Amino acid sequence: MRNIDLIEKLTAERNLPNAALKLLIESNEYDTFLFEAADSRRKEIYGDEVYIRGLIEFTNYCRNNCYYCGIRRDNKNAQRYRLSKEEILACCEEGYRLGFRTFVLQGGEDPYYTDTLICDIVSEIRKRFEDCAITLSLGEKSKESYKAFFDAGANRYLLRHETANDPHYRKLHPDNMSLQNRKQCLYNLKDIGYQVGSGFMVGSPYQTTDTLIQDIRFLQDLQPDMIGIGPYITHEDTPFSSFKNGSMALTLRLIAVLRLMFPYALIPATTALGTIHAQGRELGLKAGANVVMPNLSPVGVRKLYALYQNKICTGEEAAQCRGCLERRVNSAGYRIVTAIGNAMKENK
Ligand code: 5AD
Ligand code: FES
Repeated sequence: MRNIDLIEKLTAERNLPNAALKLLIESNEYDTFLFEAADSRRKEIYGDEVYIRGLIEFTNYCRNNCYYCGIRRDNKNAQRYRLSKEEILACCEEGYRLGFRTFVLQGGEDPYYTDTLICDIVSEIRKRFEDCAITLSLGEKSKESYKAFFDAGANRYLLRHETANDPHYRKLHPDNMSLQNRKQCLYNLKDIGYQVGSGFMVGSPYQTTDTLIQDIRFLQDLQPDMIGIGPYITHEDTPFSSFKNGSMALTLRLIAVLRLMFPYALIPATTALGTIHAQGRELGLKAGANVVMPNLSPVGVRKLYALYQNKICTGEEAAQCRGCLERRVNSAGYRIVTAIGNAMKENK
């Protein structure tokens, strides 16, 4: 099949057999057509709009010990912090002034924040910012906890599945975690009524084209509203310190493939992509991404939320970050909008 035919087939059918996907993922020879097709698909549905989400990293304590992550429990070099309810609300106030209409509360799995406390924080944000979406990203919880947060006013939940291949999942996580539970959490969240975001790292240790294809197949089953992918970036204080970073080229290629397979999805140009390359996020937008998630955390703690090394945007105030991103998005040919930014739905 000619290169262009393969991309046209993917665009029309939103799907390809495994062998064709493998070709597409492993070779750079389709990239030109692929990126063009992804960008035009994105423009058909979302125009040149880019949604912004204000990220509030409220705790870097974590009870988990994922081998890739810089805030894993056993990293004794990590200096730990927690934000109070008042500090979190102050981030939202500032974010609202800057035009954010989505707040993402992200943290490690930190038992200090009981369900009662999370519900209290969420309902206060809901009360003060009626026109905003509240996104949580707090890891694996029981269905009852997810339901309580939802009833308190949360609308969206981000939980990357990380890898949909069980042996690969075992290599990235200690024995007390399981892919089965992770998937169950995602189905529970959907069932409750959350808009759900999932995703995976690109180039994580032991990842192969086959595991990536399984990631895509899992996403086809889950049908999430948002799909977040970013390159794996090594952190020196983890058991994976000797592995190399994931590649930008592969991340961009996968963003484009995902745009064509999930035309309506919200796909962020992630901070990790901006970290491995100075223009990573701009290139991500051009490859089909339509969301950016600047940091709203207090500057004093930003460096401490180090999932990986050399994270960008750790020295800037929220307003500076917002301005910087605005320029970057414009330079890529798109524009930031302050809309709440739900995923578009297809008229079937
Ligand atoms: N490099 C890149 N991404 C990472 N994450 C965790 N550790 C790393 C790393 N070393 C990602 C995981 C997690 C998200 C919050 O950050 O995919 O779900
Ligand atoms: Fe944060 Fe550029 S986006 S400093």
